[in-house]
Order: sequence, then C-alpha cells, then structure tokens
Amino acid sequence: MRRALVRPVSESLSRCELTCIERSVIDLEVATGQHRDYCQILAENGLIVQTLPAAHDLPDAVFVEDTAVVLDELAVITRPGAESRRPEVVAVIEALAPWRELVHLTAPATLDGGDVLVVDRTVFVGASARSNEAGRQQLATALDPWGYQVRAVPLSGCLHLKSAVTLVSDELLLANPRWASMEAFGGIPHIPVAPEEPHAANSLRLPDRLLLPAAFPRTRERLEDAGIATLTVPAGELAKAEGGVSCQSIIFDDGLAQ
Ligand code: GLY
Repeated sequence: MRRALVRPVSESLSRCELTCIERSVIDLEVATGQHRDYCQILAENGLIVQTLPAAHDLPDAVFVEDTAVVLDELAVITRPGAESRRPEVVAVIEALAPWRELVHLTAPATLDGGDVLVVDRTVFVGASARSNEAGRQQLATALDPWGYQVRAVPLSGCLHLKSAVTLVSDELLLANPRWASMEAFGGIPHIPVAPEEPHAANSLRLPDRLLLPAAFPRTRERLEDAGIATLTVPAGELAKAEGGVSCQSIIFDDGLAQ
C-alpha cells in the first residue's frame, strides 16, 4: 500500500519560516481546514494516511516533506536548512523506522526534502538557500550503493526545487523555467506553468491523478490537454506559509519494509 505521513497544522504557523514571499496574515482555521481536505483527498485516492503527533511549538511542522527523502531502499533523514525546523525530524524518525533503514545527514550538511526530486535513478537536488553542497554530497554517498546519481539544479526566486519543478508522469515534468535551470534535467520534457501562475509547478502525484492547488486553473488546463488527469484542493492559506501540496506529505510504499 502507499502510505502518506502527514502532520497537523501547528498553532504557531504564523511564525513560519519565509524565504521568497512577504509575511501576510494567516487564518489558522482556514489553513487547518485546507489541510484536513488535503488529507481526505489522499485517503479517497487510496493512500493510508498516518498522522504524526501535532507539534504546536514547531511552526512549519505541517510541511513534513522537508524532513526525509524516502526511497524504496532506504530513508534519508534530512538536516533542514532552517534551524527552527530541525526538531521536526524526531517524530518522523519514529514514524519511518518500522518501514525503512534510516540514514541521517549530519552537520555541516543541510537539505530540505522539498529540494529533492527523484526521476528514476536520478535524484535532482535544488541548490537553494536551504540545501547546501555538503547536503548533496552526503545524500549522494547514501544513495550511491543503490545506483542513484545526485545532480544539482540551479534555482533563483523560489524556496525549493519542488516550488519550481515536479514530476507529473514517469517522464514528464511540470515546471516554472524562470525559477529552475531546465538544462539540468537533460532531455526530460516539461510542461511550462501558465506564465500568470508562477507558483503552479508544485503538484503531487497520487496513484491515478495529479493533485494541484485550486488556484491555478490555466496550468491545470495545460495538464489536462496533455492527457494528465488532475484534481484540485484549496491551498491558498498554506501557500501564505510558503508551502504547497507536495510539502504536506511523505508518500512511500509500505510493502517494502526493511
Ligand atoms: N514555511 C515553509 C518553509 O519555509 O520551510
């Protein structure tokens, strides 16, 4: 079965880290409702949704994706680039331990899971403010025995690689080419987001459909025209905390226990 780890919206969300957007008022009730809808969509689409304990003292805890990179063979526990986020990994380690061998990144490495995009055996890592060269090197060392290659992707203007590029089918990307250097992806084709929807590249692959924030109808139309079946969830309040739909879960196959 596909399992999704999620974590409730923290009561301190308004003190979240922000890198590329201005702070604005976040309605906690709306954000919590949007996250609830998100979890319900994951469950309706065949995922086992496992909710980690709430962490109201950790503002960004809902963006659980940043704490681990889970592959079929192992899970790499990250060392998030923002110091305030480092304690988030504790609950994630506990949740992943039954399912995977764990490898832990250590200082001076920093890496956010939102910077990691896996396409077959190539692991693209955003060279963002959150993920450094030591993070990429430690990730490469952990993954090398399994035949994965790590490749850096230059970014500008966005928080994470997956703010700019996500995988929408086995060999097709959705991308905002203004934020990520698409040459880094070699010959992998991409659908560009609608220019008026720069934040639309962050999507989440579910078993049969692609999940997108509801705010990006023109990009959705481009995907549907290309034969990608989509569904949407309102995500605007969590977007004010610089989070998208991929950030709110860690999805993996739990039939591959270590
Ligand atoms: N607020 C999401 C992050 O900056 O990590």
